[in-house]
Amino acid sequence: MKKVVVFTGAGISAESGLKTFRGQDGLWEGTNIKDVATPAAWKRDRKRVLDFYNQRRKQCIAANPNAAHLAIKKLEEYFDTYVITQNIDDLHERAGSENIIHLHGEICKAQSSLNPKFVYTMQVAEINLGDTCELGSQLRPHVVWFGEEVPNLKKAEELTNQADVFIVVGTSLQVYPAANLLNQTKAGCEVYLIDPNAEEMNVGWQIKRYSMSATVGVPKLVDELTK
Ligand code: APR
Repeated sequence: MKKVVVFTGAGISAESGLKTFRGQDGLWEGTNIKDVATPAAWKRDRKRVLDFYNQRRKQCIAANPNAAHLAIKKLEEYFDTYVITQNIDDLHERAGSENIIHLHGEICKAQSSLNPKFVYTMQVAEINLGDTCELGSQLRPHVVWFGEEVPNLKKAEELTNQADVFIVVGTSLQVYPAANLLNQTKAGCEVYLIDPNAEEMNVGWQIKRYSMSATVGVPKLVDELTK
């Protein structure tokens, strides 16, 4: 059975109402990364960091998977399918996808600020000052901040290298090491790029571009791959 790997970014959740980072009105337009998404920010102002993720978590909870997430789930009926996502929302999970690797963490989980191995599925929408882990340390979002290790990278690279089909959806490919996955596909792998800006993106000539939104492009490609 062919192995299909789908590599997603914020763009796949845009039509579920969640902001992207670098597009028009993106998250990083209104908020400085250095204030909320680095270990230094956490050291400087924990409450500000917690509030930023509490607000995003509530938006994720209120959002729903869209036709793109659901079409990726459908791939599982035909192929050995894996999702590698940069997104911290749980929309792939809620669409029913089974094999998901989160490269940048999961907003609906909390982790110990003392030992990153202590991770907890959250039952509530907020993490607040004074919420502690079993070691007694302040809980933080289970999110990979800029400058932190990407724990699942090796697994993602191995998977990418085994893919017969590699589908990139909704990522500006500007954040490394995640973006480097595109260079890790094996010879002969069919690579597709689905993004409204696909034509302007600086990717290899052999990549088949679908210059359209995720909810149009992903179902279209899935239909083509499964007919
Ligand atoms: N359908 C498909 N793609 C879309 C849509 C849509 N409806 N709307 C926007 N896009 C595309 C944009 O053209 C852009 O290429 O989604 C991409 C979003 O890029 P970014 O905002 O940079 O998001 P992403 O690539 O996921 O960012 C990577 O950066 O800030 C960090 O940790 C954060 O995981 C994130 C990483």
